Amino acid sequence: MSDSVYRRRFPAGRLLFNEGHAADAAYIIETGAVEIFVEFAGERTRLAVLGPGEIFGEMALVDDAPRSASAFVLEDCEVIVVERGQIKRELDQATPMMQILLRTLIHRLRVATSTLPQMQTPISTDEAARVIARIKSEHEVRRAIDGGELVPFLQPIVRLDDGVTVGFEALVRWHHPQQGLLGPEALLGSAERAGLLEALDLMVMRESARMLAALNRRLALAGRRPVFLSANFGAAHFADDRLADVLAEILADANLPAERLKVEITETTLIVNRDANAALARIKAMGASISLDDFGTGYSGLSYLSQFPIDYLKIDKSFVATMLDDRKTGEIIRSVVQLAAQLEIDAIAEGVETAAQAEFLRNAGCVYGQGFLYGTAQPAEQACAALFDRA
Ligand code: CMP
Ligand code: MG
Repeated sequence: MSDSVYRRRFPAGRLLFNEGHAADAAYIIETGAVEIFVEFAGERTRLAVLGPGEIFGEMALVDDAPRSASAFVLEDCEVIVVERGQIKRELDQATPMMQILLRTLIHRLRVATSTLPQMQTPISTDEAARVIARIKSEHEVRRAIDGGELVPFLQPIVRLDDGVTVGFEALVRWHHPQQGLLGPEALLGSAERAGLLEALDLMVMRESARMLAALNRRLALAGRRPVFLSANFGAAHFADDRLADVLAEILADANLPAERLKVEITETTLIVNRDANAALARIKAMGASISLDDFGTGYSGLSYLSQFPIDYLKIDKSFVATMLDDRKTGEIIRSVVQLAAQLEIDAIAEGVETAAQAEFLRNAGCVYGQGFLYGTAQPAEQACAALFDRA
């Protein structure tokens, strides 16, 4: 028996606790019977008679308020005592949403059954407001996905040697009806909590695949080489290997060959899905390639480059931003690019903003770059127009 759980016996006729009093424990009845009642102007109202297997005294522990009712032993009782700490630990693990829902329920029950004014104290309005705002924002994200408020923007990825655009990363933007154009940060937290990240990634992939296919048709007419699509996929997709089938279907619908697709995944995705290899192998078997995103920001280190079938490695912009001022960062980039090249992995530098950075990266052997220097994420029409202007 753990030290927080123990048994007690109470004889019939004993008042266990009073409505309105402070609480320290809840009880699970093993044998016997307990009456739960409230009293008003000397009149006793029975709320329930509880028997073996039932719990009581838990409400005050859950909402940190006084006892909502009194408990009286009707028949000799044996109970298991559940201490406050035990319930508190469980509660702390619940999401804020679950906590507030529980408190709301208990508050309603208190208001309905008790006549004592201290039972009517509402739950903290700050806390409730926060949770309600969250529920609303999840609802908004759902509406945004279903209602076409989300649009992929395209950011060029260029060959550092000659500045030619070779592909585009699809980055989600939100045309919010009140707040205007918002970036992914306004979206991803709520989408994740609402379990909508997969739907969001696939929506972005579907739309941007169509955009890229149309763009490639125009490039072909102009006698130019096709460009690739780099699309981001969160960890949830890699729990099983169905992603390959879903992607194959989207690519077929859009008429974009799988060879034109780079699937971007982060190091964190590989950390949480150590068996992502099956999914990645199927994606590669289709002809698509794999880009390791945000390289250097996770905890994984270099072992991932040999464990997973990675084709491209995206050096995080935090490295690029500091590499010219910080000699060590510069050396890290140089070494990582060389190591990657030996493993037949091409490096893509993110966040390239100046010609000096581009120069450094070229000299380090980095093949591709992406950043403000070459173009921000833009609506498809503008991204395409820029591509044709530059030619
Ligand atoms: P607590 O408020 O800690 O102390 C009184 C207990 O009575 C309460 O937790 C519940 O376990 C129980 N209780 C309160 N209201 C009811 C009800 N309407 N029906 C059954 N049990 C109740
Ligand atoms: Mg990315």
